[in-house]
Amino acid sequence: MRVFVTGGAGYIGSNVVKALGGKGHKILVYDNLSTGHDWAVLNGDLIVGDLADRIFLDNVIKAFRPDAVMHFAALIQVEESVREPLKYYRNNVVNSLNLLEVMRQNRIENLVFSSSAAVYGTPEKVPVNENALLTPINPYGYSKMVVEQILKDLSAAEDFNYAALRYFNVAGADYEGKIGQAYKESTHLITRALKTAKGEFGELKIFGTNYSTADGTCIRDYIHVTDLAEAHCLVMDYLLEGGQGGEFNCGYGHGFSVRDVVCAVKRVTGIDFKTEETERRTGDSPILVADNSKIRRELDWRPLYDDLEYIIKTAWEWELKLEAKVA
Ligand code: UFG
Repeated sequence: MRVFVTGGAGYIGSNVVKALGGKGHKILVYDNLSTGHDWAVLNGDLIVGDLADRIFLDNVIKAFRPDAVMHFAALIQVEESVREPLKYYRNNVVNSLNLLEVMRQNRIENLVFSSSAAVYGTPEKVPVNENALLTPINPYGYSKMVVEQILKDLSAAEDFNYAALRYFNVAGADYEGKIGQAYKESTHLITRALKTAKGEFGELKIFGTNYSTADGTCIRDYIHVTDLAEAHCLVMDYLLEGGQGGEFNCGYGHGFSVRDVVCAVKRVTGIDFKTEETERRTGDSPILVADNSKIRRELDWRPLYDDLEYIIKTAWEWELKLEAKVA
């Protein structure tokens, strides 16, 4: 199949491109390299371009004639979205509209969309399933929810199939150590903890210790990026075979607290770094854990790396290599 991948030079996109390439698909990555890297595109070709540039996008899609599109390009930092909401709505919503309009002009009907567990906000019940009410608590989550709604409306109106994969906390690196999280400003817990172990930060801040969880810190469902990449390959085949799209949670179905992660990072690295307990971070939900029964049932997704220490180990090995890569 011919697959057009926006944001394919980024962390998750590049892992999916690697998986798609391994299955023999022909790939064209479209990425503005604002947070991604050309070296991360291990399969197919890369066009440096922005989704805001509709005319260029249209020319590229016309020439490539994809069977399916995977749309990763987006801004993803919750805290930044609270400070700069317009930037998030423009990048995540307006640029998605551009892509959808160009797809429509070119009669491309299959889309896999990178959504997020952030659409759930603070769910009433955890593990949360796909039918839960969507009540995001930050502009990032809203931006993903709006795009999901657009996809739903479009698929009801015309021939258009989509799957929105709601990612929980994606972490870890490719087992061959070729690609991983390489965005310098990443604020994600595992990355920050590893960088602290490496000495890049004096201490790791623990945001909030008075949540109503067993140890007072937030709980998240950490999923290895390679398992997530496989889910994308499965869902694309499923859509192309006429499967009924919709929303799919991507998580393992159990969570770890911030303190659990800190202990695991110390164990895996063998480094005892400092932590500092601070105020809650705006926009954080206390507990986000996936009910993954839908994706297991409908796509027969069988994750292979449901092991926090393995996730951290691959991320640590990657982190130690990273300077040479981004220098
Ligand atoms: N945290 C810290 N210290 C840090 C960084 C994070 O205590 O230095 C805490 C956060 O407050 C939160 C938890 O660690 O409680 C996880 O935070 P991350 O920033 O790693 O991830 P988020 O849960 O905020 O967000 C991620 C993705 C979203 C996705 C969400 C779904 O960025 O796209 O997971 O679970 F929606």
